[in-house]
Amino acid sequence: MTSLWMDETKIQSFPELTKDITADVAVVGGGMTGILTAHFLSEQGMQVVVLEADRVGGGQTGKTTAKITSQHGVIYQKLLAKHGEEAAGKYAAENQKAIGRYEKMIHDRQINCGFVRCPAYLYTLETPDLLKEEAKSAAGLGIDAVFTKDTELPFEVAGAVRFEEQARFHPLLFLQSAACGLTVYEHTRVLQAEGDRLVTDKGSVRAEKIVFACHYPFLNVPGYYFMRMHQERSYVLGLNKAPKLHGMYLGTDNAHAWSFRSAGEYLLFGGGGHRTGENRVGGKYELLKRKAGEFFPESQVQYQWSAQDCMPMDQIPYIGRYSAETPGWYTATGFGKWGMSSSMAAACMITESILGEGEDEEVFGIFSPQRFTPKASAGNFCKDSIHAVKDLSRRVFTQGRGDLEELPKGHGGIVDYDGEKVGAYRNEEGEVYLVSAKCPHLGCQLEWNPDEKCFECPCHGSRFDYRGHCVDGPAQTDISEKSREK
Ligand SMILES: Cc1cc2nc3c(=O)[nH]c(=O)nc-3n(C[C@H](O)[C@H](O)[C@H](O)COP(=O)(O)OP(=O)(O)OC[C@H]3O[C@@H](n4cnc5c(N)ncnc54)[C@H](O)[C@@H]3O)c2cc1C
Ligand code: FES
Repeated sequence: MTSLWMDETKIQSFPELTKDITADVAVVGGGMTGILTAHFLSEQGMQVVVLEADRVGGGQTGKTTAKITSQHGVIYQKLLAKHGEEAAGKYAAENQKAIGRYEKMIHDRQINCGFVRCPAYLYTLETPDLLKEEAKSAAGLGIDAVFTKDTELPFEVAGAVRFEEQARFHPLLFLQSAACGLTVYEHTRVLQAEGDRLVTDKGSVRAEKIVFACHYPFLNVPGYYFMRMHQERSYVLGLNKAPKLHGMYLGTDNAHAWSFRSAGEYLLFGGGGHRTGENRVGGKYELLKRKAGEFFPESQVQYQWSAQDCMPMDQIPYIGRYSAETPGWYTATGFGKWGMSSSMAAACMITESILGEGEDEEVFGIFSPQRFTPKASAGNFCKDSIHAVKDLSRRVFTQGRGDLEELPKGHGGIVDYDGEKVGAYRNEEGEVYLVSAKCPHLGCQLEWNPDEKCFECPCHGSRFDYRGHCVDGPAQTDISEKSREK
């Protein structure tokens, strides 16, 4: 389903790669991270190429809610407790600077993308003391943050923390302008990387520096990002006839974790988050529609879409050298659903490093993928490891969840067929599609997401449509379609 941004923007198309080429820097991925990185490096006179598997802005950047904030959930008190003041200060400063950098770039290039400064709020109905502490922690790090009970929300809150001078914009109108003038190859998927060479499905690229800005770094080794992140998916409605909100809002209680922000004549209302691959029952859009009806009885749903992001173990993105063994490679990932400010921060840090303007520790600090944070990561590392073992063994040791013949029209699932577990979908006309239930990334069992009519991998979040076409990584290949006697 198309997002409001995608519906409103026709980003220019770029050619496919047709031969072997060289460049100073090759950027893998044409989302916000890749395009901003390429833009800043090109401004410094470097010869940069962007390789995009699909279309510029066609990944998560086209489906974000595009709040540009240093307010990333309840984070500052945790950063202070687990990483100390210097690291928490670097996190706050880089994300605050990112807002100003967008503003400057938009002003300098006269980009018409609805950029507005506005406050961002976290709100709670249950735990005001937590938000009082968050306001205090953020303010102590130099952010203009206060605790309040005043909001524009259609319900009473027990407390909220307001960050002043944050921002929102139209991400694709911005991206379209940022990509203008860059050398981009679309429909060009990077398949392999070795040293200074990238092999794509259309030709190869040699570059001294390579930046993996492809959302989920898909090379398992080196880097081992699959052991350090999982993905989470959330759902968004674009409502019209809803009130216009000046501020942007996010609930911090599990039971009220709604996101609100205005976008032109629409109000974006989001929620229903889950680990990718764990929405077997579905009903996320229905839940949002029911809540929208309660909060804004006059409103009408014009858009609905979903997106997912990489969740790092310790809540801090991985921005810096891809691995200790590959000094010429960089990455930026694990934005934890806060990739607008984080992608700007990443693009600036990576540019600085490539231009040789500082030692890694000073440039990347706490964001470095080489950081070692056992205290902050231990809980999530255990949870993710248990998940991976559970999801891998499910494929081998359990049966399908039903019988193919009993699958109703318009439904899909993992079923037993011909002595094998397969992914099945029966369309509204009764035609059945069968695909392998095994994820091509590392072999976990896929699960059906009824809200998106696709198969998702609970291990690291790869996704496939019902014909088996890979729509989200880390997997880079399709799953095979299975033939069936009619
Ligand atoms: C529901 C939701 C709401 C969100 N709202 C906000 C928000 O309000 N504010 C905020 O800060 N963040 C938000 N985020 C997070 C934010 O949208 C993302 O972190 C950000 O868009 C990621 O940008 P990216 O450039 O890293 O990835 P992408 O935009 O996904 O770009 C990566 C690109 O790499 C390409 N690619 C992948 N593999 C290859 C390959 N092998 N070869 C070539 N190209 C490849 C893909 O096709 C894609 O175009 C939200 C996330 C979700 C899920
Ligand atoms: S995404 Fe890693 S096994 Fe499926």
